[in-house]
Amino acid sequence: MATVTPSGAALGAEIRGIDASVPLSDAGLALVLQALHTHKVVVLRDQLLQPVQQIAFCARFGSLEEHVLAQFLVPGHRELVRVSNVLDEAGKPIGLVDAGRLWHSDGAFLDKPNLYSMLYAIEIPHGADGRSLGETWFVDTAKAYGSLPRAMKQRITGLTALNSLEAVYAAMHKDKAALNRPPLTEAQRRGVVHPVVRVHPHSGQLCLYVSRAATVRILGLAEEDSRALIDELADWCVRDEMQYHHRWREGDLLIWDNCGGQHLAIGDYALPQRRLMHRATVAGIEPVGAPAHESATADAA
Ligand code: OGA
Ligand code: MN
Repeated sequence: MATVTPSGAALGAEIRGIDASVPLSDAGLALVLQALHTHKVVVLRDQLLQPVQQIAFCARFGSLEEHVLAQFLVPGHRELVRVSNVLDEAGKPIGLVDAGRLWHSDGAFLDKPNLYSMLYAIEIPHGADGRSLGETWFVDTAKAYGSLPRAMKQRITGLTALNSLEAVYAAMHKDKAALNRPPLTEAQRRGVVHPVVRVHPHSGQLCLYVSRAATVRILGLAEEDSRALIDELADWCVRDEMQYHHRWREGDLLIWDNCGGQHLAIGDYALPQRRLMHRATVAGIEPVGAPAHESATADAA
């Protein structure tokens, strides 16, 4: 029987007793989903997965999305994209090198943002002392919403915000992260409008859906007020004591919830320290905003 052990931090858990290389039973799927919705990020350690096995496991959670950067897909397996700092013989990146160097939620700039992401660690960089590098940090956006003062809950419920990939790129540029990306399409520049407080499509929890990376503008507010509120809410989500820091091991299959959390990649390594991962992404639905009365009646959940 599989077991779920919380990380001891504000979120995160380890699931033991599931082998992701063999078909996942309905009971196994229910256990993983329950743990994921509770802890927002879960790890299955010591997995040995070929691409077809990772795809089969991940597809149990929903339909898998193909990443737009076709050159980074795993050859022959378009459901997987490489997240890596490794270069090919021509010196070109074989995967996304700069994925997630700002706090974000995957696909916030899409009409239907990614629901879950699943990253499988094949090679992990290590420092001279043997400690693994390139951690991924997580926060719980339902806890972030739940711990807001009541007046703030009331103020933001019903608000919507513009999120765009252009903002993500601009923020990365400001932070001098590598920008080896193709030009944006008109639609990508325009961005999408999402509720500031989202209802989780499965757990029903209310989640703050504002990030430093993607949120450009809260609609209906003056630019200055909008900027101040985005910064306040985004910073509230990622307070130090709200974080779980995932220290990777080869063989980790990490699954996270993009409605219930945000994450950040730590870029504290460089070649010849190699990092290679395969990511599958489960498609989501159009975000639903919290009902107006929620903030008036619900105290910190
Ligand atoms: C991602 C991402 C974090 C990491 O793949 O969406 O944010 O540590 N990755 O690679
Ligand atoms: Mn990400």
